[in-house]
Amino acid sequence: MFKHAIVRTPCEAMVKGLSTAKLGKPDYALAFEQHQDYIAALRECGLQVTELEALEDFPDSCFVEDVALITPKGAILTHPGAPSRRGEVELIEPAIKQFFPYPDYIDAPGHVEAGDIMMVGGQFYIGLSARTNRQGAAQMISLLNKQGLSGTMVNMSALLHLKTGLSYLENNNLLTFGEIHHHPDFSDYNRIELTAEESYAANSVWINDTVLVPKGFPKALTAIKTLGYATREVAMSEFQKLDGGLSCLSLRF
Ligand code: GLY
Repeated sequence: MFKHAIVRTPCEAMVKGLSTAKLGKPDYALAFEQHQDYIAALRECGLQVTELEALEDFPDSCFVEDVALITPKGAILTHPGAPSRRGEVELIEPAIKQFFPYPDYIDAPGHVEAGDIMMVGGQFYIGLSARTNRQGAAQMISLLNKQGLSGTMVNMSALLHLKTGLSYLENNNLLTFGEIHHHPDFSDYNRIELTAEESYAANSVWINDTVLVPKGFPKALTAIKTLGYATREVAMSEFQKLDGGLSCLSLRF
């Protein structure tokens, strides 16, 4: 069960955020409204939400998931592969330390963005991407081992982050898409494959037996409901324009 979440208010500069989506620039006012509804959804799932202030110098800083990994045993601050995002780490550190006074750190030349990390109990899958390299993943695994947890690297090619293409919904259920669906590392899971046009919903989030699902993906929503989960849709159009998904917008612990 999760009790807390940390989020960061989107800044107006988000319209200049990193993106490969080719969906146009986000509308800031609408993004703010969608973010408020996201926070409401986290609260509906029973989480206490810490809201951090917007950081105008860091357009992607609302995607807090990338700059820290929080496990059941502690916190690890990352070193993002995207140079424009590295300054976000020291700015989230005080909020992390309120809950975890002695976090660990990933150091250069290691790069990790925790959007590449999926937790399954005490096992952490770490996707190797343009944002997370082998050195960073190796550091992460040794820090997880120090916490009594384990990690493995996942080779992948096309995705921005590992969790762009999959979500663990607990109970052995994995939402998947594309290259991840047939990936040998995940063959033991009950994989629910989404269609290409609904691939964005592969980033859905399990929170205390409710699954947050991006709004506008009816087949994915039905598939998740069929598994027996309560669901809560959240409109995400403005964050999708920045390659950001539901998981990217919070740290949950
Ligand atoms: N726009 C989010 C990212 O690329 O990190």
